[in-house]
Amino acid sequence: MKMDVPYNQLVEVERRRQEANRKAQMNSWCVMAVVAVATVLLGSMALYILLTPRVSSSRPAPSSSLRLPRGESCSDPCEIVLLESIPEGLEFNSSTAHPTIFQAWLNLMGGARSSIDIASFYWTLTNKDTGTDEPTANQGETVLKTLAELSGKVSVRIAVNTPQESQPQGDLTLLRDSGADIRTVNMRALTSGVLHTKFWVVDKRHIYIGSANMDWRSLTQVKELGVVVYNCSCLAADLGKIFEAYWLLGHSQSVPSPWPDSFTTVYNKDTPLQLPLNSTPSSVYLSSSPPSFCAAGRTPDLQSILGVIEDAESFIYIAVMNYLPTMEFSSPKRYWADIDTRLRRVAYEKRVKVRLLISCWGSSKPVMFPFLRSLASVYDPKSRLDIQVVSISSCVASSELLCVL
Ligand SMILES: *[C@@H]1O[C@H](CO)[C@@H](O)[C@H](O)[C@H]1NC(C)=O
Ligand SMILES: *[C@@H]1O[C@H](CO)[C@@H](O)[C@H](O)[C@H]1NC(C)=O
Repeated sequence: MKMDVPYNQLVEVERRRQEANRKAQMNSWCVMAVVAVATVLLGSMALYILLTPRVSSSRPAPSSSLRLPRGESCSDPCEIVLLESIPEGLEFNSSTAHPTIFQAWLNLMGGARSSIDIASFYWTLTNKDTGTDEPTANQGETVLKTLAELSGKVSVRIAVNTPQESQPQGDLTLLRDSGADIRTVNMRALTSGVLHTKFWVVDKRHIYIGSANMDWRSLTQVKELGVVVYNCSCLAADLGKIFEAYWLLGHSQSVPSPWPDSFTTVYNKDTPLQLPLNSTPSSVYLSSSPPSFCAAGRTPDLQSILGVIEDAESFIYIAVMNYLPTMEFSSPKRYWADIDTRLRRVAYEKRVKVRLLISCWGSSKPVMFPFLRSLASVYDPKSRLDIQVVSISSCVASSELLCVL
């Protein structure tokens, strides 16, 4: 379906999110997490990892174990690390502490020997964009400076959504002047969408995927989540194919159909890649969207999300910025409940417990709340029906009233 309303709105929403969060931050401790893992439902890229105990052939599989299809296997000593950005000043009190996204980016750049490929939405790593002098911009500024220094030494390629006139482009100019190769992907012309992906492939060996934009606020002001996988050339090769697709589209007026053979993959929902993650035998595949960007063999994001929901046996926890069973950017309005319906179905048919953590802030669409209330009303302990919805306020402006479900 064509999106009639330009996705500029999305750029604007992301900027306002970052800006609002900055203001809320200055407003003291009342800032709570703006859960920024909107990536998945916004249909960007999902890294779907199934940790599946591999049962040795000498032992029969317990009847309850997941019977998952097997793809090819890889013997790289892949090390996976979950990453977070926690807004500065936020008392998070998590029982587990993860390394920061900033730290992982520095590690990746520090270890780079030959190449860094970055897929990105937009670049504002210094606070020139707000004309402020924020001490918390220094992590972003360090990233930009380090990457610019590397650009003369190793191959640095950046695929970025074509910036609008009004968007700052200083970072990209600096990187280009330093020797980076940059291609803008005109998603608006190609698909009426945006390139919302954020990932890195380093030395065809290490990868990073996460919600953080190349934005100083993503490192110190916004709650973000990411994952880095070191020493994993099999997975890096597959993510590399997705990068090459963006790279090609940076010089193309149309989306190839079908995609040439070099973009196809054998790792997908039905035949995931078998590899050790932190020495645990695991099944992994990378999905992508929109479907027109998926070469033969690639599972589209929606199928991957629906598959994860379908495979759940006891619970599903979801953390997203927005939750709407609608096409947010379409005109006329469109109801779109594929994911919503699947959640209700597994809650009912399989008695899977569903919990949603949603952000509530100044730009939350008011219509989100009746839909969330509707979902949360699917609750009846007697019938073991359990969908719980919690919204987190970022204490911005007058949004709090809306947050009461
Ligand atoms: C975090 O933990 C500290 C120390 O235990 C406690 O004083 C504080 O109230 C906690 N904050 C939150 C938001 O739970
Ligand atoms: C990656 O492998 C190299 C050796 O090939 C090793 O020195 C390094 O510690 C590994 N990195 C991680 C994060 O496991």
